[in-house]
Amino acid sequence: MPDSRRIASPDARRVQIVVDDVEVTAFEGDTVATALLAGGITAFHRGVDLTPRTPFCNMGTCFECTVTIDDRRLRRACVTPVRPGMRVETGESR
Ligand code: FES
Repeated sequence: MPDSRRIASPDARRVQIVVDDVEVTAFEGDTVATALLAGGITAFHRGVDLTPRTPFCNMGTCFECTVTIDDRRLRRACVTPVRPGMRVETGESR
């Protein structure tokens, strides 16, 4: 998985999170949605019609970005900051 697809501030500290059992590098202050998208992950969960869903509003209102974070389901990735060691499940690995 790519390290990142964006330019970080030179003094940004790296944060390792685990997404679907794969380590992803994020930067301190990133939201989970930013980290996933920068890591090339666009399918965050499946809708009721089983189509892949991806962030839409990026401000916490549409719930299109929900993922499981540290075994807690339906967390909004766009308003959740990354923490070192955080475990994120998109549901795409099953
Ligand atoms: S993208 Fe809309 S709630 Fe996260």
